Amino acid sequence: MDAVRIGGESRRVRMMLSATEISSRVQGMAQEIEAKLSDLDDLLVLVVLDGALVFAADLIRAMRRNVQVETVKLKSYVGTQSSGSVAVAQPVPHVVTGRHVLIVEDIVDSGQSMEKLTSLLREMGVASVHVAALLDKPKAHPGRSYADFVGFTIGPNFVIGYGLDADGLYRNFSDILEVLP
Ligand code: IMP
Ligand code: MG
Repeated sequence: MDAVRIGGESRRVRMMLSATEISSRVQGMAQEIEAKLSDLDDLLVLVVLDGALVFAADLIRAMRRNVQVETVKLKSYVGTQSSGSVAVAQPVPHVVTGRHVLIVEDIVDSGQSMEKLTSLLREMGVASVHVAALLDKPKAHPGRSYADFVGFTIGPNFVIGYGLDADGLYRNFSDILEVLP
């Protein structure tokens, strides 16, 4: 595929990460997480909908330990632009209180979503919070890191596939494609 429709326009795309590359990195991330968080019993995985749906499904099945899985829904993007504000569209479940939480996120861009969610979790009295993000765009949040575990560090272009959408579409692609500017 070399073009997709976004916001009524045809946009050129280029393969960035194949399903095979993603799969092997997700297995590696599961091992890193299990090694680093081995002391924390009773881990609660908090999946950030909708984008992390596909990543989380693979990541939790690559983990050997027992985890509880809960979801929260955040919304910030309109088209390929961040709206600049993060809305909590489905609240954080109260069971997080007192628990060791691993947030599973598709991508860290400006960092606002992770900033908002981690502060909400701290207000709710979690025992600890870690973030696993499949993708990180470090240039969009200079001088700060928001994820303890990162799958791939990428450049600034918008990406789709493997759960990541443009206006609700393309989440079902098994590869990650870069939308060319
Ligand atoms: P942030 O709050 O700016 O870090 O943005 C985080 C959210 O925006 C992510 O959880 C994604 O759902 C969405 N997002 C950011 N960049 C992209 C992208 O390149 N493609 C698809 N969604 C993105
Ligand atoms: Mg997201």
